Amino acid sequence: MDFKTELEARTERVDAILEKYLPEAEGPQKTVLEAMRYSVMSGGKRLRPILMHETYSLFGGRERVIEPFMAAIEMIHSYSLVHDDLPALDDDDYRRGRKSTHAAYGEAMGILAGDALLNLAFETVSSAFTIDQGPNTANAFSLFARKTGVFGMIGGQVVDVETEGKQISPDLMRFIHEKKTAALIEAAMMTGAVLAGASRMDITATGSIAHDVGLAFQIRDDILDVTGTTETLGKPAGSDEKNSKNTYVKYFGLEKAEKEVEILSERALADLSSLSYENPFLTELIKSLVYRNK
Ligand code: IPE
Ligand code: IPE
Ligand code: MG
Ligand code: MG
Ligand code: MG
Repeated sequence: MDFKTELEARTERVDAILEKYLPEAEGPQKTVLEAMRYSVMSGGKRLRPILMHETYSLFGGRERVIEPFMAAIEMIHSYSLVHDDLPALDDDDYRRGRKSTHAAYGEAMGILAGDALLNLAFETVSSAFTIDQGPNTANAFSLFARKTGVFGMIGGQVVDVETEGKQISPDLMRFIHEKKTAALIEAAMMTGAVLAGASRMDITATGSIAHDVGLAFQIRDDILDVTGTTETLGKPAGSDEKNSKNTYVKYFGLEKAEKEVEILSERALADLSSLSYENPFLTELIKSLVYRNK
């Protein structure tokens, strides 16, 4: 099987898992349930659950306990996008090739669908304890909560919006990128490692690989915001300039930003290959992100 076919199979598997955990849109609160489904079941790349699963496999994980965590990380990611697109944040009306959630369902439903997905993510993760009551599940749960919250993704989003149009230090810009994006990639890969019972050293190594992959991923996203088209991206190109965001491209220029993506990705791949475990698909996946066009 080639990489593309394998990736498609994994993407479909994530969709099937999400389908299992997303409630039907019915009852008096039907509208918000529809908006939740609309934002999650809309053909994202499913990168985070796939990275989670591949890291779990890398360290020998073979059980179903990973599934609720896979669904939950994509719910968190989807809600972060729904809220990121709101008028109060990036004010973008287009996402994953169609109207963003608030543009389709109104601002109130956008806010509430995001809230509901966040809550559902934790309800979903808690169901992992019906599969495995061991300490790995508990440790994965607390890591997941920390990296997606105010000391992770939310923290990054806060500084991202607070510093729009302001001159900031390279360190603070790095903080924004590390928190708003790398933290969810770290949550994904480290959860995979913890649930598979990886050693403390391997979990730490996984954390720094995920950090580099995540930072490179956001710098590439910033590059694509400048060089990509709305049609290919499925979200509005030029959003960062519109919002006077602090990005690597704005500070260092396209060429240096490109170089940084390469350096970070090469370091991640080198660290991955120095582990005593192997997952060729995971290696290919990380490579494929370096020059992605969406
Ligand atoms: C978009 O993430 C937000 C960033 C952190 C750059 P993705 O590029 O993974 O978005 P989807 O899930 O494929 O839509
Ligand atoms: C978003 O960064 C990171 C999130 C936590 C949602 P961006 O604002 O650059 O993401 P896009 O470009 O809208 O997908
Ligand atoms: Mg944003
Ligand atoms: Mg945005
Ligand atoms: Mg962006």
